Amino acid sequence: MQFEQVPHLSLLQSGLAAGIRMPNSCRNGSCRTCMCKLSTGEIAYQIEWPGLTREEKAEGWLLPCVAEARSDLVLHVPDAVSQRGD
Ligand code: FES
Repeated sequence: MQFEQVPHLSLLQSGLAAGIRMPNSCRNGSCRTCMCKLSTGEIAYQIEWPGLTREEKAEGWLLPCVAEARSDLVLHVPDAVSQRGD
């Protein structure tokens, strides 16, 4: 599944807008429901303290509800479901 980052929206919001159902709940970086893994690429956070430990960040975990792409990304989102038929 592929989707485009919508300017000023989070990765989660961009994915949902593109018809990809991704796990989420609080959408403010605290519940960790959306936690997924970054395989390649760079992101930036929209908030100063996303709810991840330093170790989790170093391992590539991210919270897409409060993150934006800074390059092309490959994400591993185990429970993502396309509603577009791809
Ligand atoms: S939806 Fe709660 S941390 Fe992302």
